[in-house]
Amino acid sequence: MGYGSDAASRGGGAGRIDLRSDTVTHPTPEMRRAMAEAEVGDDVFEDDPTVAALEERAAALLGKEAGLFVASGTMGNLVTVMAQVPRGGEIITPAEGHIYNDEAANYAVVAGAGLRVISENPNGEMPIADVVEAIQDASDPHSAITSLVIVENCHAHTFSRPITPAYMRELRAALKPHGIPIHVDGARLFNAAVALGVPVRDLVADADSATFCLSKGLAAPIGSVVVGSKEFIFKARRARKLLGGGMRQVGILAAAGLVALSDGPEGTVKRLAEDHVNARRLATEIAALPDVISPGHIAQPEGERLDPSRVTTNFVIFKVTGGIARRTRFLDALEKRGVLMVAYPHGQIRAVAHYGIGDEEISKTIAATAAALTETA
Ligand SMILES: Cc1ncc(COP(=O)(O)O)c(C=O)c1O
Repeated sequence: MGYGSDAASRGGGAGRIDLRSDTVTHPTPEMRRAMAEAEVGDDVFEDDPTVAALEERAAALLGKEAGLFVASGTMGNLVTVMAQVPRGGEIITPAEGHIYNDEAANYAVVAGAGLRVISENPNGEMPIADVVEAIQDASDPHSAITSLVIVENCHAHTFSRPITPAYMRELRAALKPHGIPIHVDGARLFNAAVALGVPVRDLVADADSATFCLSKGLAAPIGSVVVGSKEFIFKARRARKLLGGGMRQVGILAAAGLVALSDGPEGTVKRLAEDHVNARRLATEIAALPDVISPGHIAQPEGERLDPSRVTTNFVIFKVTGGIARRTRFLDALEKRGVLMVAYPHGQIRAVAHYGIGDEEISKTIAATAAALTETA
């Protein structure tokens, strides 16, 4: 069996340079091998040794008692809400966050919870005074009961900025008197750890639970892990079952996740630093091109030159002059040249560096960007 080392096997696809997301990555050769050889069992009976090993590894890395393998980041967040928030309870979460904007209102539809959203600052942090202000008075029968605060780390819409342990400490201290738990939607938590140069456990030490995705920059094909106390994971497991997320010989998938989290050369955590360097280079070079401007909204004020120093992980977010119509023509012109970027909210464009995108692909992307801008000027 050829595992393939060409761009197609890493998410490039037929010579394309696909920067729409880090979810387009294909598994590494070591992952494919581990998947083929994985020892498996029925995970609904908790009999799959590979899933158990992945859950233990994830929990140990994040400094929590237990872990639960789930199908996706969305499912990880949802089982957390189902485990932590009673029907009619309320969650405080960022206004530009994934939970509010990109999970099909599952918190309401499935969990019966409400959201109270807080505008983030340019680093993706909800101001702590605003969070405290948003806590409802549980003794007032008019109010929903504030039951969970969710932080997104990295915070996608602010150039996927990492949220620091210092912020988490301050948030925890502010919430402690209210007894409100914290969940970290850490779809790209390992990018944050690598960018900040801190152990990943430091990012969630002041949270009760966290989800991280194996299927994004870590390059595994499927899956996320939720971590927290044993009691919480028991409830989350029940919620996963309710959602039909109890899987059987799923060690075949967990095996790829174990490779991703390995300390050895086959692990994909340390290499995230390359993605961060590549994203910064892309931002630096396209910032110098005419008609590339700042993304506006919360990421960087409207109408400035794109500031590459805002790029500290693997997301580049920018705008082109000429509004939405030019954006569409620009993205089409890029695609014609074999480069895919994606339309992002607020008229923005996103390009994401990932496994399979190296120096050569970044150089080609810069050239294609320059040509697409000229063509659409
Ligand atoms: C911040 C954040 N949270 C959660 C998710 C959901 O992950 P999934 O696509 O695996 O459901 C994403 C996906 O892009 C994300 O960016």
